[in-house]
Amino acid sequence: MEIRTLTANDASAYAKIRLEALECNPEAFSASVEEHRALTEEDVAARLYPADPINNFVVGAFAGERLMGTAGFYRDKGLKGRHKGHIWGVYVTREARGSGVGRDMLGALLKRATGLQGIEQITLSVATTQDAALKLYQSLGFQSFGREPRALKIGERYIDEEYMILSLDRGRNLKVAGILDENHSSGCETK
Ligand SMILES: CC(C)(COP(=O)(O)OP(=O)(O)OC[C@H]1O[C@@H](n2cnc3c(N)ncnc32)[C@H](O)[C@@H]1OP(=O)(O)O)[C@@H](O)C(=O)NCCC(=O)NCCS
Repeated sequence: MEIRTLTANDASAYAKIRLEALECNPEAFSASVEEHRALTEEDVAARLYPADPINNFVVGAFAGERLMGTAGFYRDKGLKGRHKGHIWGVYVTREARGSGVGRDMLGALLKRATGLQGIEQITLSVATTQDAALKLYQSLGFQSFGREPRALKIGERYIDEEYMILSLDRGRNLKVAGILDENHSSGCETK
């Protein structure tokens, strides 16, 4: 499986897998199928080629030409929030699950994100229905810091979300998880 950052050239494959994610696991994402269908191809391409691609990117996992998984990252822009990054849109297509694709994608994302100068913490939210995702994030060192009841409403059904944070603490958590080697310099280190 090749893991790389998606570019505007991947827009059509990305739009397809994103639609699959929203259709197959609606409870896992705050975006809806209806909203996704309303996007033009240009909207999707813009997400993959944002104005600030250093601090805002989507990684994808490929089996040959086929996109099998995605994970997005963005960093807050403001002076008071630039130390914070966020993960969104984590998805692995059903047939590729359980063989390390999700872990490898997040590993690649975190390696790149933690190399950004000044990043100190990374947050995400995960629906409490998503056991595999919760376990994956915990195994990478993310810790829960709260739960939003009824965060999503899908028809008449409510879904709670868990808020999780990875405090980079000089990358210690990621070294423990085997994502970073001992020599990796995380963005929050000051030398
Ligand atoms: C969450 C998801 C991305 C994991 O992808 P994956 O490629 O299957 O994950 P991996 O094979 O890399 O497994 C990584 C870890 O996840 C956890 N995990 C994976 N599948 C699991 C399962 N069925 N049950 C419990 N834990 C599981 C384990 O901790 C696993 O580590 P281990 O293999 O060392 O035990 C995938 O299940 C998915 O797309 N789920 C639906 C969408 C979703 O919930 N996205 C998260 C939105 S916040």
